[in-house]
Amino acid sequence: MKDMIDIQQFPASHLPARILMGPGPSMVDPRVYQAMAAPLVGHLDPEFVRLMDRTQELLRYAFRTENKLAIPISGTGSASMEASIANTVEPGMPILICINGYFGERLAEMARRYGGDVTVINRPWGEVFTSKEVEEALKAKPAKVVGIVHAETSTGAEQPLAEIAKIVHNHGAILIVDAVTSLTGVPLKIDELGVDICYSGTQKCISAPPGLGPITFNERALEHMRRRTKPVASWYLDLSLVQAYWGPNRSYHHTAPITMNYALYEALRIVAEEGIENRWARHRANSEMFWEGLEDLNLKCLIPRENRLTSLTTIVIPEGVDDAAVRKALLDDYNIEISGGLGVLKGKIWRVGLMGYSSRKENILLLLAALNKLIYK
Ligand SMILES: Cc1ncc(COP(=O)(O)O)c(C=O)c1O
Repeated sequence: MKDMIDIQQFPASHLPARILMGPGPSMVDPRVYQAMAAPLVGHLDPEFVRLMDRTQELLRYAFRTENKLAIPISGTGSASMEASIANTVEPGMPILICINGYFGERLAEMARRYGGDVTVINRPWGEVFTSKEVEEALKAKPAKVVGIVHAETSTGAEQPLAEIAKIVHNHGAILIVDAVTSLTGVPLKIDELGVDICYSGTQKCISAPPGLGPITFNERALEHMRRRTKPVASWYLDLSLVQAYWGPNRSYHHTAPITMNYALYEALRIVAEEGIENRWARHRANSEMFWEGLEDLNLKCLIPRENRLTSLTTIVIPEGVDDAAVRKALLDDYNIEISGGLGVLKGKIWRVGLMGYSSRKENILLLLAALNKLIYK
């Protein structure tokens, strides 16, 4: 143990302002950074309580829902994912999880840890499920909870959701949808689709730093929760307790990360100012421009156009090109972060996020020029 610290060994950190074009975090609007510089107030201060109320209203707008429960979980996207599972899964309960990538696997793992009797259906990474496949699985073995990923960040595939909620409901189950990489960037209308639980993270299309996990439960999901026979195994993520803090009683549960809530509020104001439909359209227009540029460079996308996410593009690394060397040069010479593949796609793809404040033409043009230079010159 050291009794003295040589402070010269610990210089102040000077972190670069990167162009973040990976799968997250995305870049943060300067307005959000400004909002984060505001002084702390207490987490029960009337001004903070007002901000909490307004945040819930803006989250309902972002999710396209009238659900009463729409709050940010204190924690990253994995915390909102775990809150969805912890509150709905009980030991021995039959659960169905659809896996076509890394995050579907994480959902299944969480459901198992909460004691669920988990059945999985699989699709090769990059493919998506048909509603029929979900129906067949439920016919083969009924489930009480079904989990599926809308935007699979490990592959860049967008899971079509039409019909799935209806099928799930017809089989007496509730539907959880992971929208970490889609919320506010990719069209998603929770109420219209009939999704019962949806969760996300702040660091993707919402373009705030990582640290909060927006989540919404509809009445059917709350009813499912009320029928629990045992308390939620996680005290921190027990929504009946967390809700009491976000609801009219403001009962103390934990100290909300105040500054992150300033950030989310400002980021959601920006979403509302832009207009959610306009924001979806911007993500699409910019990604289409990027895809055209990739085609001009003879670079192939992993996912066919009909299921390709507009928030995250996966590029097949051409034969003979050094994955790590290109990514290192992008970072060192162009200040651009993109990411490599995960799991079975490691070394095979690059993942390029065009999310929120990162989804801008100048970023796309620079990345295309950089890829051209690094691959062909
Ligand atoms: C689809 C999906 N689900 C869940 C998560 C987990 O979120 P976090 O890393 O914020 O905990 C991520 C993170 O990238 C994700 O992309």
